[in-house]
Amino acid sequence: MQEPVLRVQNVSKRFGGVHAVKNCSLEVNAGSITGLIGPNGAGKTTLFNLITGFHRPDSGHVFLQGEDITGLEPHEIFRKRLFRTFQIARDYREMTVLENLLIIPEQQIGEKIWNVWFRGKSIREQERANVRKALQTLEFIELQDKKDLPAKYLSGGEKKLLEIGRMMMVDLGMVLLDEPGAGVPPLMQNRILDHIRRLSREQSLTLFIVEHDMDIIMNICQTIIVMSDGSKLAEGTPREIRSDERVIEAYLGTPGSPGTTSSPEGQS
Ligand SMILES: Nc1ncnc2c1ncn2[C@@H]1O[C@H](COP(=O)(O)OP(=O)(O)O)[C@@H](O)[C@H]1O
Ligand SMILES: [Mg+2]
Repeated sequence: MQEPVLRVQNVSKRFGGVHAVKNCSLEVNAGSITGLIGPNGAGKTTLFNLITGFHRPDSGHVFLQGEDITGLEPHEIFRKRLFRTFQIARDYREMTVLENLLIIPEQQIGEKIWNVWFRGKSIREQERANVRKALQTLEFIELQDKKDLPAKYLSGGEKKLLEIGRMMMVDLGMVLLDEPGAGVPPLMQNRILDHIRRLSREQSLTLFIVEHDMDIIMNICQTIIVMSDGSKLAEGTPREIRSDERVIEAYLGTPGSPGTTSSPEGQS
């Protein structure tokens, strides 16, 4: 069997008295779209933070392509081609849409990678190549008409598209998406999902997605991991998860179940 891209091994994290993640182990396979679901407070966001270096686990290990990345800083993990998006899309409000894409290679990719990439090319050539790539990216996410608009004028959904555009500006291996559908009207949701699917297909990205909208998760993911009470409760195909007794039970007492379209996660 192929080594999974991401392997979380017995990871735990406490916040004071709250045991947010408990001895959690899971794997994400290369090139897959894997969903992470679970009731509100199950520890999904904390797990994302532990994987991407925003929190340090109390115990356990995180492996990326077989390499132990536990405890590395977020920018070090980014250099290893793991990227994350946030529940609330981040953007540079005063900069134009195009500038929001151009800032990514310089700011986020490490100096070293940057130099290796462009060794031997003049600054001017580098800039031209970046602009060309940014314009292609804007075409892909269909925001080319808004390229000169300050990012603050984009809708919530367009900002999420811009976030997808940002992840296209660098050569990534894996992306963690935190609720790509949250706060986005259904039509725009479909657009975002199409782009996510295309990225997975055309750039063979590995995607790991937290999303409370069951329609989205069931529609887009090949594998779904269910978290409950800080650890992995179940894993399977959308069909298996929908009929899994333990999963249905974990959602009892919260509005909605994995088989319905309503949110099990409330407003978090
Ligand atoms: N920074 C933090 N400080 C204190 N408690 C936290 C923090 N982050 C998360 N928690 C707690 O950890 C538990 C898991 O939260 P979270 O990972 O956000 O769950 P989910 O994303 O599945 O809803 C919750 O009880 C939450 O209140
Ligand atoms: Mg959360």
